Amino acid sequence: MNPSPIGIFDSGLGGLSVLREVRALLPHESLIYFADSRYAPYGEKPERFVEARTLQVCEWLVTQGCKALVIACNTATMHAVQTLRERLGVPIIGVEPGLKPAAAASRSKVVGVLATANTLKSAKFNRLLTSLGNESRFLCEAGIGLVPLIEQGDVSSEAVRQKLNNFLTPMLEAGADTLVLGCTHYPFLSETIEDLVGNQLALIDTGVAIARQLARKLAEFGLASSPDAQPTMRYLSTKDAAHLREMAAALLHVEANAETIAIEPAPPTE
Ligand code: DGL
Repeated sequence: MNPSPIGIFDSGLGGLSVLREVRALLPHESLIYFADSRYAPYGEKPERFVEARTLQVCEWLVTQGCKALVIACNTATMHAVQTLRERLGVPIIGVEPGLKPAAAASRSKVVGVLATANTLKSAKFNRLLTSLGNESRFLCEAGIGLVPLIEQGDVSSEAVRQKLNNFLTPMLEAGADTLVLGCTHYPFLSETIEDLVGNQLALIDTGVAIARQLARKLAEFGLASSPDAQPTMRYLSTKDAAHLREMAAALLHVEANAETIAIEPAPPTE
């Protein structure tokens, strides 16, 4: 039985959609949530920055005693998970857009994929896409501009609705019946998407699958905490603790013990 915390990392608030599922499945585990909101969005930053920054923050989380890390960010996983697994001595659980469950769920075999520009560009994502190419036609769209709005707590304004309409209308016209939410920020848009498209698109969010994968890894490595442990929760933001506290209350209905933390990005190395 290991009472140490699990680190959950995202470029910002999106990973809270994963934390929600981890808390539901593993309520006795202590968690440290790390929102790198000062440097979000990662989806449009140079790929080398995303890799180096993810490694830097995850190394720091290990120094805080984390026994496992959830990279609750598709973009960071796509660009850094291999390096993290090579360099860090704790289990790393990454996330990837749920193309496989979407292909299985789709009847029309036309699947929309909304993810960040960096995720869609990555070699890891493109390998996944190629491996499933026979199972469905995937219509991939970069959700440019959505993450900054969600970071401000805006999940339903006219600006959000307009962007979603622009992304989703061509998918519907091409016959898509399933939509992969390929960025952990996007599950917070589920209600707005449902309001816009009704039941024309089944939404695929991998939060529950990630929590299950974490539970399996903890069991495999003998790292689970005791069922009667008193878990602690820390919520860290590189931008603004008060905003993270507000957002956790609005998005998850939890009272977050939030702190602002300064970790300057390391200068680029050649
Ligand atoms: N939440 C992140 C993801 O799952 C990235 C959002 C961003 O910083 O662009 O891809």
